[in-house]
Amino acid sequence: MLKIGHRGACGYEPENTLKSFQKALSLGVDMIEFDVHKIKSGELVIIHDDYVDRTTNGRGLVADYDLESLRKLDAGRGEKIPTLDEALDLIIGKGRVNTEIKGVDVAEDLIKIIKQRNIFDQLIVSSFNYGQLLIIKNLEPRIPLAILSEEFRLAPCLELCQQLGAKDLNVNLAYVDKEYVDTIHRAGLRINVYTVNDPVDILRMKEYGVDGIFSNYPDRL
Ligand code: G3P
Ligand code: MG
Repeated sequence: MLKIGHRGACGYEPENTLKSFQKALSLGVDMIEFDVHKIKSGELVIIHDDYVDRTTNGRGLVADYDLESLRKLDAGRGEKIPTLDEALDLIIGKGRVNTEIKGVDVAEDLIKIIKQRNIFDQLIVSSFNYGQLLIIKNLEPRIPLAILSEEFRLAPCLELCQQLGAKDLNVNLAYVDKEYVDTIHRAGLRINVYTVNDPVDILRMKEYGVDGIFSNYPDRL
């Protein structure tokens, strides 16, 4: 079962920062999940929300920032918002990556970076934005995809996986029971569950036989 650090190890360090990724690696994760947006000056950066307000000392839409202004923000404990390149430089070779696309225009640039680095087997790309995943499937089918779903009914998710060629289904803990896991496995897919922090839930997910768990406290996995 894959131990996946959610936004790094964001139970311990500011989410989606290099410090958080470093912490997750030090805790022995197999994979690190982070969220990707595109900014006005064209770079891909690591931040969860559409706005910088919750996680930094700044204000406004992520997409309205250029890199210089974005780098002036404090993302917690003096950390900066990392670029995708910085995150990959730190993690690749030490752990795999689950790159979650948050913005609406990330796919093409992400493909370029994955191809340049030749890291097809080092990462998985997930999103709630299936349009972005479809772009990736069409332009670069070698990139492994995961469907993110908050959908309770499994049938549409399984169909979507088939359409997109996704082998992983990343689902909310709230919907997962043994039958849910078994149905996904019978479809030939893997199931990774987010975000599981309570040791009782972690044990339950392991008993169900899930393939991966995202946790803010990956040392509990
Ligand atoms: O990728 C799993 C999980 O991170 C999806 O939800 O809102 O935490 O990005 P969110
Ligand atoms: Mg995420």
